[in-house]
Amino acid sequence: MDAKDLGSDIERILVTEEEIKARLAELAEQIDADYAGRDVLLVGVLKGAVMVMADLARSLRSHVEMDWMAVSSYGSGTKSSGVVRILKDLDTDLTGRDVLIVEDIIDSGLTLSWLVSNLRSRGANSVEICTLLRKPEAAKVEIDVKYVGFDVPNEFVIGYGLDYAEKYRNVPFVATLAPHVYS
Ligand code: XMP
Ligand code: MG
Repeated sequence: MDAKDLGSDIERILVTEEEIKARLAELAEQIDADYAGRDVLLVGVLKGAVMVMADLARSLRSHVEMDWMAVSSYGSGTKSSGVVRILKDLDTDLTGRDVLIVEDIIDSGLTLSWLVSNLRSRGANSVEICTLLRKPEAAKVEIDVKYVGFDVPNEFVIGYGLDYAEKYRNVPFVATLAPHVYS
């Protein structure tokens, strides 16, 4: 799929396919160096992180394990409330493990901040975060994010795993949607 398959749905491309590929390779190099000699457990947050996980994991030189969680934020409407429900839990025992959470985007940070404490409370040796995107202007809580792909403006974005009403996840770049899509 590319931009012309999307017709007039896209307003603006924020991060191209090439930029994503190059940045994930850089992050993978850092991760390989930081975790040298340790067994890392990558924890992907469904569904948005599927693409990041697939491409990041294949850029790594180290052996890693991969597991998945699905969570949902309670609360009214589309805004994250920070009250999180686990829809699908990990299969892996975290005792003593070095965990790297793989995310698509950090918006308010409420979901991830909950997730980090949840995984730490299971006895992990370390819990760090790698996210493709971050919206600095939307932050409601301070979280320490070790690996960030790109900072993006505080607008709703789609593509590369991110959806609008479950669509656009297979768009290979990150973009904003044209207003007519929402109405
Ligand atoms: P918080 O606010 O808790 O939320 O950091 C993070 C989760 O909210 C979703 N999210 C988005 N999904 N386009 C999307 O498709 C966006 O611009 C966007 N902003 C937040 C996403 O699931 C993320 O994990
Ligand atoms: Mg997500």
